[in-house]
Amino acid sequence: MSYVSVLKWDSGFFGRVTARIRKGVVVTPANSRRIGDEIRRKRVAFLYYFQSVGHLDNLGLVLKMGLRPVDVTAVLRKELAADAPGAGPLEVRDILRGGPSVRLGALKDLARELSRESRFHADRELERSAAVRLYESWLDRAVSGTYADFFFVIGPSEAPKGFVVYRTTGAREVELSLLVVMKHARGRGLGRKMIEQSLGELRRRGFRRCLVRTQLRNTAALNAYEFCGFKFQEASFVFHGHYASRAASGPRALRSSRQT
Ligand SMILES: CC(C)(COP(=O)(O)OP(=O)(O)OC[C@H]1O[C@@H](n2cnc3c(N)ncnc32)[C@H](O)[C@@H]1OP(=O)(O)O)[C@@H](O)C(=O)NCCC(=O)NCCS
Repeated sequence: MSYVSVLKWDSGFFGRVTARIRKGVVVTPANSRRIGDEIRRKRVAFLYYFQSVGHLDNLGLVLKMGLRPVDVTAVLRKELAADAPGAGPLEVRDILRGGPSVRLGALKDLARELSRESRFHADRELERSAAVRLYESWLDRAVSGTYADFFFVIGPSEAPKGFVVYRTTGAREVELSLLVVMKHARGRGLGRKMIEQSLGELRRRGFRRCLVRTQLRNTAALNAYEFCGFKFQEASFVFHGHYASRAASGPRALRSSRQT
C-alpha cells in the first residue's frame, strides 16, 4: 500500500518533489516508519498532510516526522435547493462561457490578495513570493479553463471588483475553489452577492451541491459562506514538512530547511 502520492504540477512549480499523504490516511505508530521510508524512497522534499481535528493522540508522532502545523481548515457544504435569487439582472458574468473578456492584470491583483490568506503564505519555510506566484499560476490556469470550470466576475470588465471560481467535482457537484473581493470593496455584501448569484446560476445549469474549503481563521469568508447557507462538514489540521537541504532542492521557493 502506498501512503504518499507525488503531485506532478506542484513538484514542477516548487522545483522539487512535492507530495501529500494520501486522503484518509492517518499517521499512527503502526504506519509511521513505512511513511518515512516512502518519503525517502520517493525523495520527497515538500510534503502536505491534512488530518481531521478528530484525531489528536498522534500529534506528537506527526511533529516527530518533521511536519509542522500551518493552518486549520474547514469544509463547508451547501445543497443547492431552489432558493436561487429572484428575478433581476445577474451581476456576475462567467468569463469562460461567453462573458466579457476581463483585464488579466486586474484579476492578478485580486489573486495576489487572495494568496495572503493561504497556507503557503503562512509557511515560514517558503519564500514570501512563493504563495503569490502560486496564486498567479492558478489564476492563469483558471482563466484558460484548465483549473476551473466556471469563472464568474463582478464589476466592470476593465476593473473587476471580485471573482469566484468553481471546479466540477461530480455529476451534480461543484467545489468553490477561489473567491476574492477587492480590498476597498469588502464588507458591503459583494462577496455574498457573488456567491448567491453564481450558485443560483450553477443550480440552473443542473448542479445540486457545492463544497468549499477555507481557513478557520478567515472570519469574513466563513461569515459569507454561512450567510449563503453553507453548513460545516469537517475540519482538518494542515501540516507541511520540508525534508531537503537547500542545495539538494534548488533555491526557487525554499527559504530555509531543516535536515531530518
Ligand atoms: C471573503 C470575502 C470574499 C468576503 O467578501 P465581502 O464582500 O467582504 O463580504 P460581504 O460584504 O458579502 O460580507 C459577508 C459577511 O462577512 C462579514 N465580513 C466582511 N468583512 C469582514 C471582516 N474583515 N471580518 C469579519 N467579518 C467580515 C460581513 O459583515 C458579512 O457578515 P454578516 O452578514 O454577518 O454581517 C473578502 O473578505 C475577501 O476577498 N477576502 C480575502 C480573500 C479570501 O479570504 N477569500 C476566501 C478564501 S476561501
